[in-house]
Amino acid sequence: MVVGDVTRCYEDFASATHNQEKRALNKTQEEAGMRSFAGRDILSLKDFEHNEFMHIFEIADRLEPIARGRRNSDLLKEKILVTAFYQPSTRTRLAHEAAMHRLGGHVNGFADAKMTRAGDFYQESIKDTVHMLEFYGDAIVMRHFQQGAPQEAAKWSSIPIINGGDGWGEHPTQVLTDLYTVQRELGDVNGKSFLAIGDHRMRTMHSLGYALSQFDAEFVILTPPDEAPTEEFLAELDDKGTNWRVVDHVKDAIADADVIYVEPVVQANYATGRDERGEEVARTPSAYQITREVMKKAKGSAIILHSLPRMDELLPEVDKLRQARYWEEAYNGVVMRMALISLVMGAWQ
Ligand code: CP
Repeated sequence: MVVGDVTRCYEDFASATHNQEKRALNKTQEEAGMRSFAGRDILSLKDFEHNEFMHIFEIADRLEPIARGRRNSDLLKEKILVTAFYQPSTRTRLAHEAAMHRLGGHVNGFADAKMTRAGDFYQESIKDTVHMLEFYGDAIVMRHFQQGAPQEAAKWSSIPIINGGDGWGEHPTQVLTDLYTVQRELGDVNGKSFLAIGDHRMRTMHSLGYALSQFDAEFVILTPPDEAPTEEFLAELDDKGTNWRVVDHVKDAIADADVIYVEPVVQANYATGRDERGEEVARTPSAYQITREVMKKAKGSAIILHSLPRMDELLPEVDKLRQARYWEEAYNGVVMRMALISLVMGAWQ
């Protein structure tokens, strides 16, 4: 779309047309019997239904021209997002903040709990902290090193909690971004084989496994034995109907993949507040590494995703291949958060 089209699209969006679209969407949603996102916590993708994924993708498509045009709208001009980050983040926090700015909203919060009473002598509890934060904004996006911390926050908060990653638990907004990227790049999540390479104890892998239960898609697990998914998690996937299988080496699986979903094998401990890199850094074994050589066996139509940051599981030499889509994925991270925040804050139903 050329710049003029983006401007027109933005102006359309900002006009009364928006209200008509909102009414039409609400009607569609009512007819589909879908749960409202307004005021809802986004803690996990475990219970997300197919039509809810599609509804978020639709809202993201409508908002995308604003981000692409580097414009700001006034959709959330009356709203404040609180960012409560107990663990380092580049993308998740800043994409939520950028999304809020693009929607004309406001942001406050912290990126380092050590500078709050939760991280000093007082070790203020999540309950007490959330009882404060709920007066400071209209939704809270929380990242925490303890699995289940956002769920604990949601018990005490009168405003929605968005899980920005909890320990080894889940990372729902990342996987919404990833599936939205697949939808944009490949047209549909259905019918796709996801080769998910990396540490399968990771929160992204959990959210992906749950999410794929709602699509006619394959979840192919490639992971070192000591980073394998738990039996409990695989039993949950069976229960939900996720179509999963395990492979042992990237060379045996790359040719069948539509989505090459890469995460680190060598990485930080997600259950700690902060994990500095030591003197010695392990190397990713070749069985779990994406290189230009490995990509020679991949489909030309496949796409490579990585939530980032990366270590040596995805070499920079791959960045120039036509299959690389992780920068588009990062851009979509802003668009997806625009959709999700505006839904949760009630701008759309
Ligand atoms: N993808 C992701 O969660 O990145 P950050 O840790 O930088 O937020």
